[in-house]
Amino acid sequence: MRDTTPQPIHLADYQPPPFLVDHVALTFRLAPSATRVIAHIRFRPNPSATPGHDLRLDGEGLTLISASLNGAPITAHPDATGLTIPAQDLPEGGFDWHCEVEIAPEGNTALEGLYMSRGMYCTQCEAEGFRKITFYPDRPDVMASFEVRIESDLPVLLSNGNPAATGQGWAEWHDPHPKPAYLFALVAGDLVATSDRFTTMEGRDIALNIWVRKGDEDKTAYAMDALKRSMLWDEQVYGRAYDLDVFNIVAVDDFNMGAMENKGLNIFNSRYVLASPQTATDNDYASIERIIAHEYFHNWTGNRITCRDWFQLSLKEGLTVFRDQQFMGDMRSHAVKRIEDVLTLRARQFREDDGPLAHPVRPESYVEINNFYTATVYEKGAELIRMLHLLVGEDRYRAALALYFDRHDGQACTIEDWIAVFEEAAGRDLSQFKRWYEQAGTPRVDVSDAWQEGTYTLTLRQHTPPSPGQPLKEPLVIPVAMGLLGADGRELLPTQVLELDSPEQSFSFTDLPERPVASLLRGFSAPVALNQRLRSEDRALMLAYDTDPYNRFESGRALARDILHAMVLEGATPGPDYLQALRVMVTDDALDPAFRALALHIPGQDDLASSLHAAGHVPDPDAIQAARTTALRLIAEDLRPDLLRVYDEMQTPGPYSPDAKDAGRRALRVQAVSLLARADEGAKAAELFARADNMTEQLGAWGALLGIGKGQAEGAQFYRQWANDRLVVDKWFSAQVMYAAPATAAALAQELTQHPDFDWKNPNRFRSVIGALGANPAGFHAKDGAGYRLVADWLIRLDGVNPQAAARVSTLFETWRRYDTTRQTLMRAALNRIMAQDNLSRDMGEMVGRMLG
Ligand code: ARG
Ligand code: ZN
Repeated sequence: MRDTTPQPIHLADYQPPPFLVDHVALTFRLAPSATRVIAHIRFRPNPSATPGHDLRLDGEGLTLISASLNGAPITAHPDATGLTIPAQDLPEGGFDWHCEVEIAPEGNTALEGLYMSRGMYCTQCEAEGFRKITFYPDRPDVMASFEVRIESDLPVLLSNGNPAATGQGWAEWHDPHPKPAYLFALVAGDLVATSDRFTTMEGRDIALNIWVRKGDEDKTAYAMDALKRSMLWDEQVYGRAYDLDVFNIVAVDDFNMGAMENKGLNIFNSRYVLASPQTATDNDYASIERIIAHEYFHNWTGNRITCRDWFQLSLKEGLTVFRDQQFMGDMRSHAVKRIEDVLTLRARQFREDDGPLAHPVRPESYVEINNFYTATVYEKGAELIRMLHLLVGEDRYRAALALYFDRHDGQACTIEDWIAVFEEAAGRDLSQFKRWYEQAGTPRVDVSDAWQEGTYTLTLRQHTPPSPGQPLKEPLVIPVAMGLLGADGRELLPTQVLELDSPEQSFSFTDLPERPVASLLRGFSAPVALNQRLRSEDRALMLAYDTDPYNRFESGRALARDILHAMVLEGATPGPDYLQALRVMVTDDALDPAFRALALHIPGQDDLASSLHAAGHVPDPDAIQAARTTALRLIAEDLRPDLLRVYDEMQTPGPYSPDAKDAGRRALRVQAVSLLARADEGAKAAELFARADNMTEQLGAWGALLGIGKGQAEGAQFYRQWANDRLVVDKWFSAQVMYAAPATAAALAQELTQHPDFDWKNPNRFRSVIGALGANPAGFHAKDGAGYRLVADWLIRLDGVNPQAAARVSTLFETWRRYDTTRQTLMRAALNRIMAQDNLSRDMGEMVGRMLG
């Protein structure tokens, strides 16, 4: 048991910092086990705080060598979380703090602060890593300019801002833009750059570099291309230009998250930088494009305008995700991008919002802030901005953003500041809208309708279920984009937006020639669970004719969900109507292949568990898995000739291109081959595996074989071919676990942890085996509890070296209350066993504590 329970931090307790920082000068003498960090920091009292405070500096795991104030040495006594200089020992007015500490980057396995990754030094300071580098007021509302000197024999020495001077064994960097410490970064290593240039609309000539290990330099072209397109897009769409002379990106193998927007020196998990056609899938390319854009866009939404405190995290993350979604839509396809984003939102955020980890987009308290880099803060946060955009319209959205940049550049802001610019630019009161930031849980919208003499009346009711700490909810403003369809598929009413802002509201449409079918929540206009009872014929009509591509997709998905529910609950089989609707969709050459590929994906196991649970059933993971397997086989048998034709037609002629057009064709081709495998014993898939010259098709074909219990020889060949490529070996591990038969999945994962390549301290590798069980629900939930035990064992082990990564994977258990009592008992036992560990981290203690409730 943890002896001291860490105390939560509350938004309501926010106080402005008593001291501000004007300037920071840092010198690093790098050495793996004894790095010296010498800091000169200029403090001054904050005019908007009460005077007379002690100086409190955060610091963790630092060995204090010496300290002085205005040049006079002092003795300070650090405690476990920092040090305090009593007010009476502080000089009047401003003062200079000087301090030398020693740290050991080599032993830093938590990958937070300054750490080493395969011989290279790098940093991760968001959210609270800077306090592991030197004593500092480590909070985002303290912003300062930085000068950094790095001393090391390594050839490449990087920090934020512009290069200032360099010599044998040292380099100096100046960052003139005041920034919070979480944006500090340093990199030192034997790296090579791919370089390019970009001229901004303001005429600034910028050097762009992507730094990687030797041997990886032939895998940076796509990231560089994505960076230049991102820079141009932010100028054209948001009027925002880059503001330094260099922009550096570094790829690091050991990284807890995706990437980090440090000012002028973005640091990336190497899986989101490195790509070649042979080693990266089309999905990898798309992730690289999105994350390169995301981190670049943070330069304005995050860095120039940052967060006052970590409760405001969505201020930068929700907005930056929304911006990267807009960018991806412009680069690829808005329709397909929207469908993919909604699928992810439902799979991850709705799951979170409906369980013990539910929290508002702006949380009110936390124990460990790293636990709040969540789908709710990121993806639901982006949905809130999408709703604002819809409610005020494009022109006023632009005006609000212009006002935001103008008014708040250089500041650390709050959600209130954000809402205020929209209220001013749109001339509308948004106090009710603001509840979206404050209330957790996915709102339910129930639909009923009536028809009388040419008038169609829709009644919408909203209700948000209780969530931890929030038993009662207020009604929200829910924009419901909708249209009406006639029986022949004609649009009787084009898209308009209803605003549902009361618990119940009716909307009438008059002078209609016939009773229409309501196409509601077009484009998924609000992050709600829509409960609209539709006949299968109506869904089929929308699937065939809706003018809104999202609702076309959603109708097909709802049909599939209904059928799979009936298969799970009553042993039904898919009827001819559904199969015919699928056939029409798959063979419609007028439709984007990427869209058709998505339409061929039937709902996944976790999606079905969640929808069955919402419908009042206890989901049975084995029955769900079995129903899906049957459905896939029946679809494959029924559509076999069409799938064969599509498979042939979707060959991409010419050399590989990662663009959306070719990627869409490959997606449809791979989807066709994996369905076909269920009707031809994998014949086509084996053929594709043998012939594939790109990772999308190679991995897709192997997955198709694994999906029918084959692919052993192919797996061995895959490993031999790619044993020297870490990112591909991650795929080799995760595909086996994802596709393993439920009864043996845990045993297989266990066996893979014995593989010499299972380097469990590398977060990507850990996730590729243990995390991958999350993508095999029937395997994870095997009724003998083997999956639960294995995951708990490894979470306990990882928690000792990397709490942040371990806490993240613990969300595999977040749905435990959905299941039958046998499984609940086993999962509760696993969680209790974790909770009972000595020295459990604050990260894991908070997560498991919340899940146990
Ligand atoms: N700000 C980064 C991004 O969204 C994420 C960094 C999160 N890091 C963490 N340790 N929680 O791009
Ligand atoms: Zn971000």
